[in-house]
Amino acid sequence: MSVKRGFDRRTFLRGAGASAVLGAFGARRADALVDFAQEHQGFDFDEHYDRFGTHCTKWDGAVQDFGSGIEVGMGIADMDFRVAPCVTRALAERSQHENWGYMRIPDSYYEAIVEWNQRHYGLQIDPDTIDLTTGVHSGLISALHAFSPPGSRVLMTTPIYSGFYTDLRFTRTIADESPMHFVDGRYEIDFDDFERRARRCNTMILCNPQNPTGNLWSPEELTRIGEICLRHGVIVLSDEIHCDFVRAGERYTPFASLPNRDIVDNSLTFKAATKTFSLSAMRTGWFFSTNPDLLERVSSYSRADLTTLGIVATEAALREGDEWLGQVKPYLDENVRFAEAYIRDEIPLVDYRGAPGTYLAWLDVSRAAERIGAERHADDSTTPERVVQQWIAEHAGVALSPGSSYGMGGAGRMRMNLATTKRMLERGLANIAEALAQA
Ligand SMILES: Cc1ncc(COP(=O)(O)O)c(C=O)c1O
Repeated sequence: MSVKRGFDRRTFLRGAGASAVLGAFGARRADALVDFAQEHQGFDFDEHYDRFGTHCTKWDGAVQDFGSGIEVGMGIADMDFRVAPCVTRALAERSQHENWGYMRIPDSYYEAIVEWNQRHYGLQIDPDTIDLTTGVHSGLISALHAFSPPGSRVLMTTPIYSGFYTDLRFTRTIADESPMHFVDGRYEIDFDDFERRARRCNTMILCNPQNPTGNLWSPEELTRIGEICLRHGVIVLSDEIHCDFVRAGERYTPFASLPNRDIVDNSLTFKAATKTFSLSAMRTGWFFSTNPDLLERVSSYSRADLTTLGIVATEAALREGDEWLGQVKPYLDENVRFAEAYIRDEIPLVDYRGAPGTYLAWLDVSRAAERIGAERHADDSTTPERVVQQWIAEHAGVALSPGSSYGMGGAGRMRMNLATTKRMLERGLANIAEALAQA
């Protein structure tokens, strides 16, 4: 690691120890946590909330994968901020009751889901059409078991979220990838190709907004997807986990809000509050459909072993987290603007244009890859993008996700997670700028 900017990782780690004890494993007394949470009603997203030492994937996982030179974790999609105080308070209150036996899911939990979707998106969901999951992945896996027999094809527009490939692996299904075209800075679906593939698929996984490209799909695009899928008997599995991260002035359209009832009846939607409030390890999510037959078939493959803490945290976030979310979104918008300007001015070997959805930046690193000879260093066991990932980890101390894990269209790309403090974002970008300048 040649790059140093007055950043002492040892001090960083020592600080991490302190916050890890409090943040991850709990203060002894719940009331102390309540006070602590109340003090932070100001939602200071500039505060560096150190996650080292908590077994978190983004930071500790990056050190495990790339070594102790990692200074900035910008990989897996969660946020570095202290959680919304309403969540900490609810967990602290529940912890005062020291029994953790089996739990019934309260009606209020379903109501919180319904009210959130109504309040934020005007979406009316009948609570009887909601089923719970331990995350979007487990919901999707149940749906694939229900509709896509082993060996059958699942339609996806790529590049797309790497985790879907794992879901396909679990269900012994095959990705039918319809590569999108990058036109004037936006990914567009090639509908002719999409329809050709739809003819041989049973299900389609839709990602709205799309990870990693940040596409928000318009009502017209969603309708076209829906019409083609309906025509060819392809059930739409709409993953909308990133829907709460839409930049100011942009609009997310829930698939279930489309006016064509037949299209909506041919779909299930999968959502969670875990991305929105960075509660991923709480393992909660839900799916719903206006079509009772589809719902019943998926539910028959789904066993949602939710935890008490997951339910308490999620309900608190859905009921009381609006203000926190309302403040984190402009902060993230500002990060997008900052990253765009910084990359344009300081990292000439990388191209980036902010997308309307998600807090993920989909970087074009093809010229950087060429500069470091990534193609030459790749072999059967690795891709050029993994070479770039390794190189940036080693030379810049930054952990990113390689484009090649996002399917066709991921060549020459890296995904960078912008959901961190401005200071960390700047450090990550500055490290990359300096490393590439010396390449
Ligand atoms: C598009 C998408 N779907 C699903 C997930 C994971 O869902 P869960 O943690 O609820 O299983 C992620 C996480 O990054 C994601 O980006």
